[in-house]
Amino acid sequence: MSRLAVLGGTPVRQGRGWPGWPQYDDATEREVIAAIRSRRWAISWPSDGTRARERRFADEFARYNDVPFCVSVDHGSSALLVALEALDIGPGDEVIVPSMTWVAPATAVLRVGALPVLVDTDDETGCITRETISAGLSSRTKAVIVVHLGCTVADLDGILQLTGEAGIPLIEDCAQAHGARWRGRPVGSFGAIGAFSFQNGKVLAAGEGGAVITSDEHLYRRAQQLRADSRRYPDTEVPAGQLELVEECEVMGSNYCMSELSAAVLLDQLPRLDAQHRHREKIADELERRLGDLGDFGPIPLPEHADQRSIYEYGIRFRPGTFGSASAGRVAEALSAELGMPWYPPDPPLHRSTMLQPHTKRRFAALWSEDGRARAVGRDFSGAERFCESTLLCHHSALLGDSSDVDDIVHALEKVRGRRDEL
Ligand SMILES: Cc1ncc(COP(=O)(O)O)c(C=O)c1O
Repeated sequence: MSRLAVLGGTPVRQGRGWPGWPQYDDATEREVIAAIRSRRWAISWPSDGTRARERRFADEFARYNDVPFCVSVDHGSSALLVALEALDIGPGDEVIVPSMTWVAPATAVLRVGALPVLVDTDDETGCITRETISAGLSSRTKAVIVVHLGCTVADLDGILQLTGEAGIPLIEDCAQAHGARWRGRPVGSFGAIGAFSFQNGKVLAAGEGGAVITSDEHLYRRAQQLRADSRRYPDTEVPAGQLELVEECEVMGSNYCMSELSAAVLLDQLPRLDAQHRHREKIADELERRLGDLGDFGPIPLPEHADQRSIYEYGIRFRPGTFGSASAGRVAEALSAELGMPWYPPDPPLHRSTMLQPHTKRRFAALWSEDGRARAVGRDFSGAERFCESTLLCHHSALLGDSSDVDDIVHALEKVRGRRDEL
């Protein structure tokens, strides 16, 4: 076995790239060109006599998720903001947010003037649980945001039981979980609102984009207005030359509308999603069989009633001590050098993330008073820390190739483990 590639040795994988992401073909280009040629690049522009692409995508995405309603928006972050505003969360309120997540759920709560109360996560899945939510509850808690993280699903039974008993709405952040299922139903359809991101790296990508889904008609009306300057879709089809938005103005909104060009990309991408899921699942199954033979390694577990995962960031868990005293970050560096693609540990949990700095903005500084900060981050986060110390992640596109990729990943893990003393 040659020296580690990170120390100048020969890498396990040479001369071969990894599958590209996002995937597109002539059909994608045709959709985008048709959108350009229509001259209607925004919902807030006179109709050409056909339904706007962002509305057609919303209909398709609602169907995909088995819910009656969906509103397209410009980012996953806006989806969270619209979800919180639809539920009328605001100053004086607290919202439970997992510590293990991208920063957007916490900043969305701040943006509506409420306090994000970070809670610990399960040490094997990185998701919040009924127990960790309980540790953050107070009489001010007005919502819980659950993030279905990476390639697993949070334990929705326990969480829904708790939020149901407490009478607190659940927002499901599904930015990393498009198409995952719990007890046979798509995630995002269990809470009051589900929020999605279509940012470039997501399994359903449009560069930038987002959506909220709901089964509640009242929340749907509010969400439409909150994202289109207080306007909503008309009740009847509109002829060419007229706007496909009417000024309802029941609640004041802002502009978080999805561009028609993004919607064109999504209309092309959505029908590809399930085949891509199946492909990733096949390669992940193969990899997991091989990891079982290796010992020391295993996948991020899926709770019993999660009957389909969505692999956004694929995670490998390793037993403490597998790589001697090397940190997960150093192991990931070594693995990346062997494979010629990025592996990385989970982002630092939000309670110590450099991205969560409310005091740097005047409108959030008061929320981050000594008391506010203590409520937000003053609890035990040992589950999240253990998750970070023993997890290696890679982007889902690594699972869109074939069995030879599995061989390379397994050989790289074996090599780095075998030469751990050099790290
Ligand atoms: C869990 C989670 N929520 C929200 C977002 C925000 O989505 P966007 O980048 O589209 O604003 C992300 C993006 O990575 C995410 O991972």
